[in-house]
Amino acid sequence: MDSVHYIEKAKQLINKKKLKELEDMVLKISDKNAIFEIGIILRELGKYKEAAKIFQQILDGDFFKNNKFLYNKVLNEYEISTKKSVLKSKPTRMHVVVTTDCNLKCIMCRVRKETYTMDDKVFNIIVENLPFLENIMWQGGEVLIYDRFYELIKLAANYHIRQTFLTNGLLLDKKTLEVIVNNDMIMIISIDSPEKEVYEKIRAGAKFDKLLEVLKQVYECKQKKPDFNYSMAVVMMSLNYNQIEKMINFAILYGFSSVYFQKYMADLSDDVLTPNEEQQKCIVEQLKYFQKKSENNEIPIRIATNISLADNYDIQKTDTQKCDIQKNAEIIGDKKKNNVAFNKSGNDRLFCVAPWKTLFLDYNHTIRFSCYCEPADIDMSQCQRNDDVWNSTAIVRYRKSIINNNLYSCCSGLCKNAGDDGKEVRK
Ligand SMILES: C[S@@+](CC[C@H](N)C(=O)[O-])C[C@H]1O[C@@H](n2cnc3c(N)ncnc32)[C@H](O)[C@@H]1O
Ligand code: SF4
Ligand code: SF4
Repeated sequence: MDSVHYIEKAKQLINKKKLKELEDMVLKISDKNAIFEIGIILRELGKYKEAAKIFQQILDGDFFKNNKFLYNKVLNEYEISTKKSVLKSKPTRMHVVVTTDCNLKCIMCRVRKETYTMDDKVFNIIVENLPFLENIMWQGGEVLIYDRFYELIKLAANYHIRQTFLTNGLLLDKKTLEVIVNNDMIMIISIDSPEKEVYEKIRAGAKFDKLLEVLKQVYECKQKKPDFNYSMAVVMMSLNYNQIEKMINFAILYGFSSVYFQKYMADLSDDVLTPNEEQQKCIVEQLKYFQKKSENNEIPIRIATNISLADNYDIQKTDTQKCDIQKNAEIIGDKKKNNVAFNKSGNDRLFCVAPWKTLFLDYNHTIRFSCYCEPADIDMSQCQRNDDVWNSTAIVRYRKSIINNNLYSCCSGLCKNAGDDGKEVRK
């Protein structure tokens, strides 16, 4: 019998609450991948005892012993299921800001005002983690400026890691594109307008003609390798609020597989780039319209956003920019946080497993698990190896807080990272 059959059978038994029968079935299955998948289903449902037994069963066998990557993956799940706060398993995902240096001075960007480039210590910590990672996100500043970026790509390519990176695209050339395509990397290019004037106003220092030149080369690569996957990221501001349709058409024209419309994170409440109420309504209406079209396959592109499209969406009036790519409305967080707190009693389900899986090394030696987390400082002078970071006091404290269902002050109720596990708990 194949994995799919066992997984389906397991789901039925879980639905019927026949967990003893499920346990007996699992003991008879030799397909370790199927057993692992069943363990994950149980863990995601908060059935930790049952999940832990399954992961223990796999760890006890010889099957994964000689494969560091798979062994770590199972050990990681085991440690989540048994709610360990100090981990023997290594992170399975990373997000790294390699430098804040940039070739542009975009008007909405705060990151470029920081001065940070990761040092050898951080570099070595990344390298130490590579054998265990499923995916990694490289970010800047502009990653293509960082002189050891190609070295990192090559090192990561020795393992089975899905590498994604975020770029303004302007430094891409044939050689770089070749490296990207050959290593099956996912590329996200930030383009905030399909119109020269608006683009150059927002992306100060950029030339629209150069962008088009690069995009033609990117498109040519796609013709040669159709599974080359690249997306477009757009920050929605008062300058481009009415260009959504044009941006989608532009993205389709150049072969992008998706467009990610990002919420603008302002430093000040009276920031002129923040869309006003009417503009915000227009953004929401347009996004809803095109997202529906995308879901119905009426347009050949995926539309994603971190802007709230709920009917009674809250208009952002003030916000603090903590992280540029994802951080969502904390202004509506209070309401959501209360919802989380409401679930506190009697629920021992972990509302987020990111601190068990993801290591996000942000600039200036701060750590998080997603862009939504309140950053925790680590004292790098105390850190020689990965373990000093991964089991640092700050991270262990985060894990303990989650185990105690008590992280609401530094954790956004809207965080999508908690999506897989937090959705149910946050209802
Ligand atoms: C800081 S940039 C670094 C990567 C690269 N330089 C780029 O522009 O794509 C990361 C992402 O944050 C976006 N961003 C910059 N300022 C922002 C802001 N104030 N609010 C939301 N997103 C912002 C950028 O457009 C980009 O997509
Ligand atoms: S948004 Fe990206 S390209 Fe623009 S200044 Fe910031 S880091 Fe540079
Ligand atoms: S749910 Fe909280 S701890 Fe988890 S990633 Fe999001 S903000 Fe961070």
